[in-house]
Amino acid sequence: MFCNTKPGYFRVVGAISASSCQKARLCDALRAKPLPHTGSFGYRAAEPTKQSPTALGTGIGSVSRRRVFQLLDLGMRSRGQTASDYKRQDAASYDDAAAEFDRLTERFSGPLAMRILDLARLRPTDQVLDVGTGTGLVALRAAALAQNGRVFGIDHSAGMLEQASAKARRSGLSDAVAFRQMDAEQLEFPDRSFNAALSLYALFHFPDPLAAVREMHRVLRPGGRVVIGVGSRPSLFSWNGIVQGTRAARERVAAASGRLLTAPQFLLHLMCEHGMEPDVEHRPKGSRTRISRMLRQAGFKRVYRCWQGHREELDPEEFWNLQVTYASEARIHLQQAAPADFVALKEDFLERCRSVLANHGKLIYRHAAMFYAGIRD
Ligand SMILES: C[S@@+](CC[C@H](N)C(=O)[O-])C[C@H]1O[C@@H](n2cnc3c(N)ncnc32)[C@H](O)[C@@H]1O
Repeated sequence: MFCNTKPGYFRVVGAISASSCQKARLCDALRAKPLPHTGSFGYRAAEPTKQSPTALGTGIGSVSRRRVFQLLDLGMRSRGQTASDYKRQDAASYDDAAAEFDRLTERFSGPLAMRILDLARLRPTDQVLDVGTGTGLVALRAAALAQNGRVFGIDHSAGMLEQASAKARRSGLSDAVAFRQMDAEQLEFPDRSFNAALSLYALFHFPDPLAAVREMHRVLRPGGRVVIGVGSRPSLFSWNGIVQGTRAARERVAAASGRLLTAPQFLLHLMCEHGMEPDVEHRPKGSRTRISRMLRQAGFKRVYRCWQGHREELDPEEFWNLQVTYASEARIHLQQAAPADFVALKEDFLERCRSVLANHGKLIYRHAAMFYAGIRD
């Protein structure tokens, strides 16, 4: 049976459906006890585990994140969404979240935007393209550097672009930067228009990232620079990888003793416990080796990569805001959730966060990206 949750969206409900089976397997896997059927989501929220607030926590020590995603993936791909449905849904979800996204990205992602500009070695006269610009985080900083050039930021979400244009007006940069609604996989610019093509935290949102990389190559002039940043841990065998690996071991201990929650894993696990399926089709996908390969496939030379990241300790409200805004697989589902389910999830989330803090623990969000740079011959 289908239930209309928001104009244009339908959710499968009912006691016996592939989706319910999937929820049952998930609850099993998460060791959360399935509770009596309560309507559209099939399972009532499990009782908050006060003694062990991180029982689902980061997933570390119980069921691995990879396993949860494998389980979530079961059956989800068979929904048969076309690439244009996917893009429409993605853009609409950002439209609704644009103001909050802007507040968060300006607060937390500034250092990563500056790193992208450093790697691109922008010159004052450069023509610059920012692909998946969102609310213009990178494009506006680029415009301040390429004062005698021109910057274009493109995105498929009208809501995000409105925020970007408003910021350009407020900062007096309207003449230096223009924002256009456009698909990253089909750029509406002539060949060889730009000196630099940049993109932060967007590539794995595109259904066909290679098509987008080829488009960046096409619109770059010979000698033009590409820099793409995607959310990632450092390489295992790098100095940062060793530092992060050691820290991860300590964090496992803290998580197991109820003193650590990390994002976005905590929210995704809690959603499963509440019988809400994160929308895995919208989880950014990709692998590090694939991006280097993609850049070379598209024709870029001298491809290299480097990593930068930092961690933020947050209060429960901000920890919630970040996860429901940034994690696409949570945002898209929660924007369509029934208000009562949403409120119940949030209350549970905040209560568990407070328990962790009362236990002298931490709520951690990692802002990190692997940057891939290359040159167009
Ligand atoms: C995580 S946000 C990153 C925004 C910005 N670069 C930042 O770091 O603040 C990803 C952006 O990619 C955009 N996007 C996703 N798919 C797209 C597509 N096919 N074409 C253009 N933009 C797209 C989304 O609308 C969203 O604004």
